[in-house]
Amino acid sequence: MIRLSVNGKRRSYAGHPFKRLLDVLREDFRLTGSKEGCGEGECGACSVLIDGEPVNSCLIPVGQLEGAKIETVESLGTPEKLGRLQKAFLEHGGAQCGICTPGMLVAAEAHRRCGGSTKRQALCRALAGNLCRCTGYKHIIESVAAALSGKR
Ligand code: FES
Ligand code: FES
Repeated sequence: MIRLSVNGKRRSYAGHPFKRLLDVLREDFRLTGSKEGCGEGECGACSVLIDGEPVNSCLIPVGQLEGAKIETVESLGTPEKLGRLQKAFLEHGGAQCGICTPGMLVAAEAHRRCGGSTKRQALCRALAGNLCRCTGYKHIIESVAAALSGKR
């Protein structure tokens, strides 16, 4: 039995320890916000925070996570009450097909917690591990900058 905290709630998982965290979140915990893009650690669509650090959940066997604190995109807000980053994506066109969006939001949240510089270079560096197949990078960067600078 693996015990972990997911979005502030205690959860336990009794299945195969090699199951990927992404699949445990989506299939066992019904948290389908995290997306599978490549499944190979290249695109960042599956990003979650593990003990505060952005990590590709498609690469992590859940068996390594005893006692870990996991935060998924669902922790950033709800459909009824969007978080600041989510609102900014909505208002600045930061999402197109939406596959990369959860990972972008999680990476942006990690950047916010590290001081959240709105300089373009810092934002690009913070989101460098996240790929957008729709190539909407300009609007994504603008969305994060708007959220972090307080203007939406
Ligand atoms: S799905 Fe995990 S990095 Fe692409
Ligand atoms: S919005 Fe489609 S992959 Fe980024």
